[in-house]
Amino acid sequence: MKRLAILGGNGMLGSDLRIAATASGWTVNIYDLPDFQITSSLQLEKALDSCDCVVNCAAYTAVDKAETEPELCEAVNALAVGELGRIVAAAGKYVIHISTDFVFGDLTDSPQCETDQPNPLNVYGRSKLHGEQLLAASGCRHAVIRGEWTYGLHGNNFISKILTLATERKSLQVISDQTGAPTATADFASAILCFLDSKPEGLYHFAADGFASRYEVAEFIIRRAQLETSVSPCLSNAFPTPAVRPKNSNFDCSKIDQILNFKRPLWQDTLTDFIDTLKLQAKK
Ligand SMILES: NC(=O)c1ccc[n+]([C@@H]2O[C@H](COP(=O)([O-])OP(=O)(O)OC[C@H]3O[C@@H](n4cnc5c(N)ncnc54)[C@H](OP(=O)(O)O)[C@@H]3O)[C@@H](O)[C@H]2O)c1
Repeated sequence: MKRLAILGGNGMLGSDLRIAATASGWTVNIYDLPDFQITSSLQLEKALDSCDCVVNCAAYTAVDKAETEPELCEAVNALAVGELGRIVAAAGKYVIHISTDFVFGDLTDSPQCETDQPNPLNVYGRSKLHGEQLLAASGCRHAVIRGEWTYGLHGNNFISKILTLATERKSLQVISDQTGAPTATADFASAILCFLDSKPEGLYHFAADGFASRYEVAEFIIRRAQLETSVSPCLSNAFPTPAVRPKNSNFDCSKIDQILNFKRPLWQDTLTDFIDTLKLQAKK
């Protein structure tokens, strides 16, 4: 029997991973707030006891709030991940840890490779980078998969935010100087399943194929959803946020392509399906 523990399994990515892993024959145990606290060593040990593999989707993800709660963010995204690594190493198990494009900070305009120098621009990004480092230092068998611009049915995200705003307003301004690839958590879950099968180790980047600015993505959404709202581009400084965001979130995914048993879909294709699914749900 294949037993999988998903930490943060009720979050946006964790929920889609639970669905995909169950469909692939894994017996899945979910660990999440409020019953499970990743900062508790005892609870981590208990969670690890019940599984053969673990995927850590648990994270402090409130990027702006993190600027005023750096200790909590560090405890969840870094220190707890180091402790997870220690427990996984002692148990001789395998962990997949999820990280983020926010470890980068515009040192290059090119798509970011796994070997590129991180340069986090905010508290959240620094905590996620520290988590990666502590996990590696633990010596456990692990893979870190960095994702970016994720969206899914089980959480708030850029796509749902644009759809909500576009139904409330006649016009929108959207940032055109941040680029990346909107990536469905359902596709991310499929990628994680490939790792659970072959258990490769190391650092990997995963994103949908292609790149676009947030403005281009917003235009695409509004067109596909057949909304009347007009969209115009603006620069990041038109919407100052407590946490500075990277402008270049483009990933080079050639390393992970060697592991995946599917071709990464174009961001436009998966996003089209996602919007159509939401439209169908709204009609019901
Ligand atoms: N969303 C993105 O655009 C994005 C992009 C790149 C990478 N990522 C990474 O992807 C992973 C999954 O993120 P997501 O988008 O699925 O975020 P999410 O929906 O916020 O999921 C995170 C889950 O972790 C839980 N959690 C928070 N603090 C915890 C704690 N102390 N102990 C146990 N569980 C805790 C959350 O519970 P509550 O909801 O109750 O807080 C939530 O269920 C994270 O590592 C994130 O850094 C996300």
